[in-house]
Formats: sequence, C-alpha cells, structure tokens
Amino acid sequence: MSGVPVIGILTVSDRASRGEYEDRGGPAIRDYLVGALTGEWREVARIVSDDRGVVEAELTRMADEEGCCLVVTTGGTGPAPRDITPEATEAVCHRMLPGFGEAMRAASLRSVPTAILSRQEAGHRGPCLIVNLPGKPAAIAECLDAVWGAIPYCVELLGGPVLASPTAFRPKGATPGVTP
Ligand code: MTE
Repeated sequence: MSGVPVIGILTVSDRASRGEYEDRGGPAIRDYLVGALTGEWREVARIVSDDRGVVEAELTRMADEEGCCLVVTTGGTGPAPRDITPEATEAVCHRMLPGFGEAMRAASLRSVPTAILSRQEAGHRGPCLIVNLPGKPAAIAECLDAVWGAIPYCVELLGGPVLASPTAFRPKGATPGVTP
C-alpha cells in the first residue's frame, strides 16, 4: 500500500454530535497517536450520534472510501440502551480480534472497577483495523497503552502500511513492510 497512512478517529456520542458537550475523547486519541507515531500520517476525524446505522456508515466510509488503515472509536461501548458501537463494529468487520477488548478491559480494571462495563471490541474490515475505546477521556491512553504494541504489526499483517512507532512490538525476524 502506498501513500501517507490515514487513520480515522471516530467519536460516538449523541451529546457531542449535537454540540452540547465538548468532544474530549477524539482529541485524546489524536494526542496519543501524535506521541506514538514517528512517521508521516494524516487523520480523518468525525463526531457522530449513537445511531447504529450512522456509526456503521461512518466506519465503512472511513475504511472503504478514506482508505484508513486504522480507525479508533471512542464512546458508546457501555451497557446503556443507546450504546451500540460494538454492534456497529461487528456488523462492518470481516473478522473480530477479541484479544484487543480482553487486554484493554484487563488493563482498565486495574484502575476502575467499572471498566468491566465496556463491551469494547476490535476487528478488521479488509485492510482496516477498527478498535473501540470507551468514552471517558482518561480511558484513551490507558486502553491504547495496553494494545498499541500490537497495532502497527497487525495493520501490516492486514495488508496496510508500515506505521513507524518506537513503542510498537515486532516479532523477531519480521521486516517492516514484508508480511509473512
Ligand atoms: N475504562 C477505563 N480505562 N477508564 C474508565 O473510566 N469507564 C468505564 C468503562 N471503561 C472507564 C473504562 C465505564 S464507567 C463505562 S460505562 C464503560 O467504559 C463504557 O463507556 P462508554 O459507553 O462511554 O464507551
């Protein structure tokens, strides 16, 4: 895959989408990526309501039309009736990667007992990895710290670009950009 890697940042929140509430999750994801990535990349950011069709359409657009190699969502992962981000993610993904949700919940549980309430998931739509994060801004770095090490290699295995990051783990013998 050629060109500058594109990363989607999707905030899922009824109130933020109506402008009643300042989006702090999206900017926290951006800050994390700016700190973790040393190479060139560009973002596509959107704030949408907690409507399943809208979230599915935006995830699909980011993956298929914008060419995102990674989409990180924030919000809508809890058990409240309007929380549908995991369902929308599952609906658009070709396969799920359950280890991401497990690792993020385990890490978050060390700081907040309510971390168990997040149904956050990850999966891929073609070459695009989609990762859900909870809506709390404090959860962003906590969750990404738990899984970031595996994200660039996962993106490469899916056929995406090389994401240059000193905090990413690469299996011994794996050459950047050359997938087995
Ligand atoms: N994970 C971390 N690391 N920190 C948090 O504060 N909040 C929890 C959980 N996961 C939290 C967390 C709470 S209170 C809820 S309800 C769920 O995430 C779902 O949040 P969401 O619906 O905003 O995605």
